[in-house]
Amino acid sequence: MWTIFQSHVAEGETYVHDGTTSRDEALDYWFAPGVATWVAVKGGERILGMYRLQPNQLGRGAHVANASYMVSPNAQGVGIGHLLGEHSIGEARRQGFLAMQFNFVVSTNSRALHLWKRLGFSIVGTLPKAYRHRRLGYVDAYVMYKLLEDPARWALPEED
Ligand SMILES: CC(C)(COP(=O)(O)OP(=O)(O)OC[C@H]1O[C@@H](n2cnc3c(N)ncnc32)[C@H](O)[C@@H]1OP(=O)(O)O)[C@@H](O)C(=O)NCCC(=O)NCCS
Repeated sequence: MWTIFQSHVAEGETYVHDGTTSRDEALDYWFAPGVATWVAVKGGERILGMYRLQPNQLGRGAHVANASYMVSPNAQGVGIGHLLGEHSIGEARRQGFLAMQFNFVVSTNSRALHLWKRLGFSIVGTLPKAYRHRRLGYVDAYVMYKLLEDPARWALPEED
């Protein structure tokens, strides 16, 4: 997981973490309390990709899930991201989340954008020049959102 994380972070095109992120900090990110982390594994041992799922906000915003994904550079473009995306949506539903939000999709990350749109996410906001891309300089980032259930059927928790 560290190797995969390091390679994407070193590229400086998709994640806000930079090259100063230590292994411990990276593992804290993937295994923070309240975070559910899943990996796609080949042959029982080789990790091809991973995602982390957590509530996007506390309390009154906690019905919306947030997730982050990374696929090994050697395994990109062959459907692992799609598998992880589908799994995370199923897992979010299973955990009772009603919607899902990506807070920071770099606008130049065309592969991720294509994938998230294909999985039903829409761009709901643009953060102008919010990302400092290693090659392209300041570029926009998107907030993307997907309802997991029809809001007409959402029930309020009894304790409200
Ligand atoms: C984004 C990421 C998770 C996608 O996973 P992946 O395994 O590479 O993606 P998949 O192979 O499942 O699917 C990629 C889709 O994008 C398409 N695609 C590939 N390269 C593309 C490009 N340059 N532009 C547009 N679409 C592209 C593929 O055709 C495929 O679509 P299809 O299923 O309709 O044919 C992965 O590439 C990754 O880890 N990237 C670096 C980290 C990152 O960006 N994480 C997400 C942050 S929001």
